[in-house]
Amino acid sequence: MVFVKAIIGLQYGDEGKGKQVDVDAALADAVVRYGGATNAGHTLEKDGLKFIAHNLPSGVLYDRKHPNAYGMPVMNIMGIGELVDPEITLTELREVRALGFEPDLSIDAKCPVITQWQKVFDCGIEAALGERKIGTTGRGVGPTVMAWANRATSLRMEDLLDPYLEGRVVDIVRQLSREIIAFHPDFKGFHSSTVRTAIAPPEGHPIRGKLEGLARFYAKELASWGKELAGYITADTFRIVRDPSLQRMVLCEGAQGHFLDPDFGYRPDTTSTHPVAQQAMVGGGVDHIDHVTGVLKMYLTRVGSGPLFTETEGKDGEYLREQGGEYGATTGRPRRCGWLNIPEAKEAVLYNMARGIAATKLDVLTGLKEIPIATAVSWKKAEEGYILEDVSYTRLPGWEDDLSGIRGWEYLPRNARKYVEFIEQSTGIPTETIGVGPGQRQVIYRQSYIDLMEGRSLPIRMVLKERGFL
Ligand code: IMP
Repeated sequence: MVFVKAIIGLQYGDEGKGKQVDVDAALADAVVRYGGATNAGHTLEKDGLKFIAHNLPSGVLYDRKHPNAYGMPVMNIMGIGELVDPEITLTELREVRALGFEPDLSIDAKCPVITQWQKVFDCGIEAALGERKIGTTGRGVGPTVMAWANRATSLRMEDLLDPYLEGRVVDIVRQLSREIIAFHPDFKGFHSSTVRTAIAPPEGHPIRGKLEGLARFYAKELASWGKELAGYITADTFRIVRDPSLQRMVLCEGAQGHFLDPDFGYRPDTTSTHPVAQQAMVGGGVDHIDHVTGVLKMYLTRVGSGPLFTETEGKDGEYLREQGGEYGATTGRPRRCGWLNIPEAKEAVLYNMARGIAATKLDVLTGLKEIPIATAVSWKKAEEGYILEDVSYTRLPGWEDDLSGIRGWEYLPRNARKYVEFIEQSTGIPTETIGVGPGQRQVIYRQSYIDLMEGRSLPIRMVLKERGFL
């Protein structure tokens, strides 16, 4: 039976999942995205080329001309749990083509569509929230999920191919006219109370024609994007990921991280789709999950509002940000930085049933005299949000040596190994890989990873040797 592995973030996103999936994809039949949207940014590198995937799955750089370890292209599936921005998906497809790749891609016909007006709402709602804003990526995620739950105002990818699309869009825009008038820059000056309170502008109202014009314009754009993507839109992608002829590995690619999950994160400062591993079955269509690898950055970052109980703002925060290049891959915003939070890591490991850790960015800690690691954190909920009550740190000694060229565990400085071992002991699971630099090859593969893959008859040693890891 095919080995199903999920790769998920154990923190607040930006743990480095893309690089992990990109390497594992060399041994996969398929990579399936099961959540998130264009708010994600997974950085991939191949043969010196770099590509940041927002909507596309991270196996897109393995095509016919650039096959995986079995000489095959990797199937890339956008499962029903992923929100699709057709305009951005097309842009990304053009980008990877310009780099010389022709990905094998399927987009589930049932994927919710991020529409133009939902992006307008995202930014408008944030602006209206003022100081209480969530700090979203502005990619329309929240409003698209709202519409999906509301049903009547949402579109799926299959609708873009529907001959009645224009009528549906006009109808949706009419239903949402209040919000469009409130938030859309074109409608400044139409904020008359009669229009704002009406469910739809009354017949004959001057704004009526303008709204319809806008709706028809949107519909035409959506239809043209649908036409270009038609060859990729596929019914029931779950059949592809469950195809019995798949013998090797299906990788489920999570987006964001456990503490941005709308159920398990610190609401309201979360995203709106589920990053947790269990979502791979609903959003990705796999019928089982054999192994969950949790990606854990060796410190913490967060972009956007909300608690970060171990945040360090002074020179240490600046050091982490600069050494780690901690600027959002999607928005370019500087990320807030902090120390590893062990109670949170344990919670995420437990909930996601993670069996191994992909530790990332250990090299960023080089040069620090000592590294604080939070071992107990208490907080309470108050009117103004989540308030930190107390945090206890264990301070582990740092190291000076450059880690970027190290490929074997035993060559790591003693204190770096101690730091990693402390995390393994605290979370109760082993590290499988350790990232020591931004490059695709700057990874230490641990025996636990090799055993895991060989246990599934995946020729991991061959791949690692070919790529210069062993
Ligand atoms: P949204 O997903 O754009 O609605 O943003 C909600 C929250 O999740 C904000 O704090 C974002 O900064 C955060 N967020 C969304 N996607 C990512 C991601 O891929 N990495 C890190 N943070 C993210």
